[in-house]
Amino acid sequence: MVGDPAHVLLDSATRHERVLLRAARPALAALLLGGRLAVPIRRVPRLGWVSADPLVARQVLGDHRSFTLVAEGGVGHLWAQVLGDWVYDLFDGPGHHDLRTRARDLFTEATAAELVRGAWDARLATARAALAAGDPVDVAGLARVLVGRMLGSLLGLGTGTDEDARSLFATGERLAAIALGSAADTTLGPASVAEAKRIVDELTAGVPAAWRTAGPESLLGRCRELGLGLRETTGLSALLMVAGTETAASAMARTVALLHDTGEQHRLLAEPALLPVAVREGLRVTTPAPVIGRSVRRDVTVAGRRLRAGERIMLLTWTANTAPGGFDLARPYLPANRQLWFGAGRHLCLGAALARAELGALLRTMTAAGRPWRVERRIPQRRALIPTYRELVVRQADDQHRPAPVGPRP
Ligand code: HEM
Repeated sequence: MVGDPAHVLLDSATRHERVLLRAARPALAALLLGGRLAVPIRRVPRLGWVSADPLVARQVLGDHRSFTLVAEGGVGHLWAQVLGDWVYDLFDGPGHHDLRTRARDLFTEATAAELVRGAWDARLATARAALAAGDPVDVAGLARVLVGRMLGSLLGLGTGTDEDARSLFATGERLAAIALGSAADTTLGPASVAEAKRIVDELTAGVPAAWRTAGPESLLGRCRELGLGLRETTGLSALLMVAGTETAASAMARTVALLHDTGEQHRLLAEPALLPVAVREGLRVTTPAPVIGRSVRRDVTVAGRRLRAGERIMLLTWTANTAPGGFDLARPYLPANRQLWFGAGRHLCLGAALARAELGALLRTMTAAGRPWRVERRIPQRRALIPTYRELVVRQADDQHRPAPVGPRP
């Protein structure tokens, strides 16, 4: 962060991650880094309550009687303005419980793996060949194409060309950008509401036909079979678009960079069985949704402080998740932070299994040739909702430059 005296002492992986936060939004970087002091919980002028404590985050996210995401300050409030008041029921009312119960099996480990295979196999084979040939590959661009292809496949629009995928991704990004100005205020102006509605209509244009006719192997067909109506399915599609687009692409590019910057790629190449740990550590250290907001629904005590109905709380999940240290394949499972990068409680990320499968598939592609990669160029994404790379060009070293294998840690 600007004026951060520790900056010069940071290791290169941490330095690069901080550059991404600042490039995305300087105020976000200041909040996340300064937020280390918000443990267990603090009141900050203009922002309301702030906490970077994983246990407080879990308590707040697990207490849906006292906290809500559909009032001012929560993402549901944003969506209600775009999709309509029915969102209040679907997001946080009895409709939400029903939706989550029906949607429980939409993204299991098995269906996620199947979705990734169907939407990505051909494109990943091309990337693998390019890497093996020693060609430069822009992993950030590749991640956007892959996620765009997944979006097309999930929304019944087909996977199409790389250009189609990029355009889908960019449309999802435009929608998310409307939320950019909402960190301190989730009330949208009429122009933003109109633009968001137009984008949702454009992106979900294929949903009604696919919902009616698609087979049960597709997501929309499965929604129908699970008893989700067209309105719920369209709402869910809009949600997937925003929740699962930039977050997944960010985790993918940043984890490839972290493996390089920490040197942990050598350990992963020597021990491919560490892949699930690389996925978990990548998600923990990047925490692509770095802040989760809630409104206080009724007076409640949290970590000894009295929160009043109508106030807001920001949970700094990035700060909580990175406090234990940097990306490290030897790091044991952290019970307090478990999955906090996917939230917790009733709104725990619906696409968690898909996100893990996506990141795993990219890392398998990166390590397929058994050769390490070097980063040739990186450009952070400026003014982004989710911190990430605009460009991350990597090239795999040829065999002559292959470092000695790393043995397992004692
Ligand atoms: C690395 C990638 C991802 C991260 C870090 C992530 C993170 C999150 C977080 C933190 C929440 C909870 C928000 C809250 O409580 O306010 C959430 C919710 C959600 N995510 Fe993800 N997500 C990712 C990928 C995906 C993908 C790939 C999909 C689906 C295609 C998806 C679909 C959803 C949905 C539908 C919700 C709302 C669930 C509800 O309100 O019941 N996410 N995600």
